[in-house]
Amino acid sequence: MIGRSRATPSGRAPEVVLDDLLREQQSRFADLDPGLPPAVLPPPGDVIVVAGEGSEAAGVLTRHSWPAGSAPLLWSAAEVTELHPVLGSAGLRGAEGLLAEWRARIPARVRHASDSAAVVTWPSRDVVASRAFLDHGLVPLAVLAVRRPGPPVPPPSPDPHLRVRRAREDDLDGCVELAMHEIAYSSLVGGSVMRAEAEAVKRTALRERWARDEPIWVAERDGRMIGLLECGFTDASPGTWLAGLLPVGRWGYVNCASVLPGRRGQGVGHALVAAALPGLQPPGARGTYLYYNPPNPVSSVFWPRHGYRPLWTLWEIRPATALR
Ligand SMILES: CC(C)(COP(=O)(O)OP(=O)(O)OC[C@H]1O[C@@H](n2cnc3c(N)ncnc32)[C@H](O)[C@@H]1OP(=O)(O)O)[C@@H](O)C(=O)NCCC(=O)NCCS
Repeated sequence: MIGRSRATPSGRAPEVVLDDLLREQQSRFADLDPGLPPAVLPPPGDVIVVAGEGSEAAGVLTRHSWPAGSAPLLWSAAEVTELHPVLGSAGLRGAEGLLAEWRARIPARVRHASDSAAVVTWPSRDVVASRAFLDHGLVPLAVLAVRRPGPPVPPPSPDPHLRVRRAREDDLDGCVELAMHEIAYSSLVGGSVMRAEAEAVKRTALRERWARDEPIWVAERDGRMIGLLECGFTDASPGTWLAGLLPVGRWGYVNCASVLPGRRGQGVGHALVAAALPGLQPPGARGTYLYYNPPNPVSSVFWPRHGYRPLWTLWEIRPATALR
């Protein structure tokens, strides 16, 4: 399953090194954070193996290009190189070795694109690796945050004039408007990009969510739609990409939270979360998750207050050639 590979410092086959390191990584992840699922092998790509502290460290490099008009372009660069470390217990020296090797091997297509990024997703609590990522210029641009099932935080002073309800299909225009405000804000404090096609992409995504009967909540005041919470459900099934990030099972998911500028800080977001959460954690669900940007001064406070905590950090640098 693993693609091109090179000689390793110990002379062992890269696949053998990867398998050994994966076992170490599994016990290391379990010690670091009980919320993590068992570590899995990276997707197919180019294997790199470097010397670490006492043992080798390995990683797999992958590359993807997102076509114009595709949904990931709302939050991602168009040309992406990604490092999937299998650090085992190789420590800071291993992480630094992987980053230096990655930098030397950025694919030409990514190197020559201005709309490019180098990305690595890693357990938030592995602060030894954080040191290496920071030293090489990567930025903690987003976190995948999780919340165990449990009752929502009650709103401190509910606004009697605020109406929170499930959205109907004829609310589409208002929902798209609110979603665009979220993209505009997040593009200042995170990886979101205000692309020319953003509105059309968002409209399609919301229509598809309705078609799947996933919950979309809106808040109204004085007859005006002022808040949106776009939610869904996902299954982390064994062997899937998501099962490498979240324990296997059913998860509720918050895709977009947005309150109109001028109406923020007045409890609208809180009321939306309190209304949506019970339905997002049906019996047997593992919990709920979402992504937020640590540099976002409102969401980085808002979500932890509602019980969410970082599980994975998405370290990123744009353009990819700025990796040092
Ligand atoms: C993040 C966001 C959805 C939160 O919604 P919100 O309505 O602003 O949030 P709330 O008002 O419920 O809570 C935020 C603050 O208002 C306070 N608040 C709560 N009820 C209040 C009330 N009745 N009156 C005044 N303030 C109130 C909260 O205590 C909190 O302030 P604090 O953190 O200083 O304690 C909204 O700010 C937003 O759209 N931001 C821009 C886009 C964005 O960042 N989206 C999230 C991406 S993950």
